Amino acid sequence: MLRLGVNIDHVATVRNARGGVYPDPTRAALLAEASGADGITAHLREDRRHIMDEDIDKLMDSLEIPLNFEMAATDEMQAIALRHKPHAVCLVPEKREEKTTEGGLEVAREENRLAHYIAPLREAGCRVSIFIAAEKKQIEAAHRIGAEVIELHTGAYCDYHADGKFDKRDQELERLTEMAKFADSLGLEVHAGHGLSYETVKPIAALPEVKELNIGHFLMGESMFVGMDASIKEMRRLMDEARAV
Ligand code: PXP
Repeated sequence: MLRLGVNIDHVATVRNARGGVYPDPTRAALLAEASGADGITAHLREDRRHIMDEDIDKLMDSLEIPLNFEMAATDEMQAIALRHKPHAVCLVPEKREEKTTEGGLEVAREENRLAHYIAPLREAGCRVSIFIAAEKKQIEAAHRIGAEVIELHTGAYCDYHADGKFDKRDQELERLTEMAKFADSLGLEVHAGHGLSYETVKPIAALPEVKELNIGHFLMGESMFVGMDASIKEMRRLMDEARAV
């Protein structure tokens, strides 16, 4: 079955807009768990703009479902991951000035460093996932360094859809389709995410090689109107519908 990982970063964004303790991302994660999420994703950024260190402590203590800990490949984050040993670590590129994770990790350019970087994480029992653009050279490099999972960046596909550039969106979908097949053929587990909404999720959910989707911003926004339970269940329904065809 296609798994749904719910990213709760933006509950922390709302909290941090005022400081203080609410809304609590761990409460959101537990609600997501009760609503059928298969995993929780949280990104501890270097600048702590949303998720903070205490959130990771609380999530690790409270969750029954797996935590996918998103982080940049820095020494600080490696030490935090090794202390917590989450189910999965997803390596993402991080730029201070960006609003969100804009591109995929340049694995091919940093292959040696990343191979050494992920070795202790794998030894500690974390599944290592690498967030990359749908490009052959990045997939091959992720495979060579010993990652078990790649997450394909769906941001461009979603942006083209939102801008009404449907030809470009369809080209991007074709690229994602081909690269999901290619990664699967190398034995990598394929995940996908970034920017997905009710409107864009189905073609990605329909790709048989994709085993997990990680979705956050849209779901948290939708939760303001219909509640978290309803938003997660609707996303789940659309994913199942796409998979059933
Ligand atoms: N996957 C990765 C690797 C991400 O960095 C993010 C954003 O934090 C997501 C999925 C979720 O993206 P969104 O919040 O746009 O659904």
